Amino acid sequence: SAFNPHEKQLIGDLWHKVDVAHCGGEALSRMLIVYPWKRRYFENFGDISNAQAIIHNEKVQAHGKKVLASFGEAVKHLDSIRAHFANLSKLHCEKFHVDPENFKLLGDIIIIVLAAHYPKDFGLECHAAYQKLVRQVAAALAAEYH
Ligand code: HEM
Repeated sequence: SAFNPHEKQLIGDLWHKVDVAHCGGEALSRMLIVYPWKRRYFENFGDISNAQAIIHNEKVQAHGKKVLASFGEAVKHLDSIRAHFANLSKLHCEKFHVDPENFKLLGDIIIIVLAAHYPKDFGLECHAAYQKLVRQVAAALAAEYH
């Protein structure tokens, strides 16, 4: 396994506290606000022209929740992340045409959101375990690109 029992424990202990809807909406919002050129992937979401519009956009919030819930599936499948995300990788490549560099970027933003919301839980070892996790998920989502 890429994760030892201690890392698995740290990841699981924090994850069961995470408010997926709130943190997912915030993570996607932050990506679109901090890196405005990423908005081009979500042109069908309506008004995402500025920070206030993004924060109050229901499609952004709903999609952020969907993405973080999907990320949360990795927590349940820590020993089979690649297999678990194979289909989603194909979809992002063939249907959504997302540059796989973006998976690393969103992973780093997820780290920031978790650290901001759960500072007491997000100690150094927890941070290290989650950094490993977001990179594994990013690699899995990039694995079926051609
Ligand atoms: C759609 C997961 C990162 C762009 C989706 C869907 C899921 C998902 C579950 C819905 C798939 C379906 O319709 O069946 C994830 C996960 C990510 C991630 C787990 C990383 C942790 C990204 C990033 C971008 C992106 C970084 C772009 C910068 C999209 C787009 C769609 C999509 C454009 C289609 C949205 C629509 O419904 O119009 N993603 N995603 N994803 N994702 Fe991702």
